[in-house]
Amino acid sequence: MKLRYLAFIGAAALLPAQVYAWPWSTDMMNQPSIKPQEGPPAPFPSRSVPVSGIPTMVADRQEAESLKNPIPATPESIKTGRNLFKIYCAACHGLTGKADSPVSEKIGAIDLTSDYVQGMLSEGWIWGTITFGGAIMPAYGKPGAGGGSNDLSPEERWHVVNYVRNQLVKDGAGTATASAE
Ligand code: HEC
Repeated sequence: MKLRYLAFIGAAALLPAQVYAWPWSTDMMNQPSIKPQEGPPAPFPSRSVPVSGIPTMVADRQEAESLKNPIPATPESIKTGRNLFKIYCAACHGLTGKADSPVSEKIGAIDLTSDYVQGMLSEGWIWGTITFGGAIMPAYGKPGAGGGSNDLSPEERWHVVNYVRNQLVKDGAGTATASAE
């Protein structure tokens, strides 16, 4: 008698698990809504800039020279560029870009506020320099060239270009701004 009683409890305990398998049982996940990867992807809003979709299509700096900068030099872009510049470039080129860091002279980092960089080089060339590096300068976007954690995305490289060409000289003019933020 006692054994039967136990068997009954056992069967009752199993019951809730069975409930989920009944054909009329529903799951919160199955709602009349569009799930990820279902239906046509929503189109990008007009004039939006893809955040991870501008591949490096050029093979070297020469090919990059004529690239058109796809990222407008907005205050946000310049701000992003300034932060990246301080992290990636200032160690060699100096916070003001004037090759005034302690190592600038030793490694031959050039003055980025010079007429050469500000006027003669194309924006594509500067982007290409960041991407592929120079004789001594490291590459920040060359796939498979020992990059990785050091890499800047194509967009980030354009933000740095925007900063170098639109704000670096002005920041250096008032040293206070260069060290602020
Ligand atoms: C490890 C030191 C180092 C770092 C970091 C560095 N550079 Fe350079 N950079 C150099 C040196 C050295 C040169 C001179 C060319 C050469 O030998 O590479 C140079 C040259 C340049 C040039 C001139 C290219 C030309 O055609 O003459 C530009 C523009 C430039 N760097 C921008 C940058 C920017 C922007 C960053 C940050 C993303 C950066 N550099 C980070 C060392 C560095």
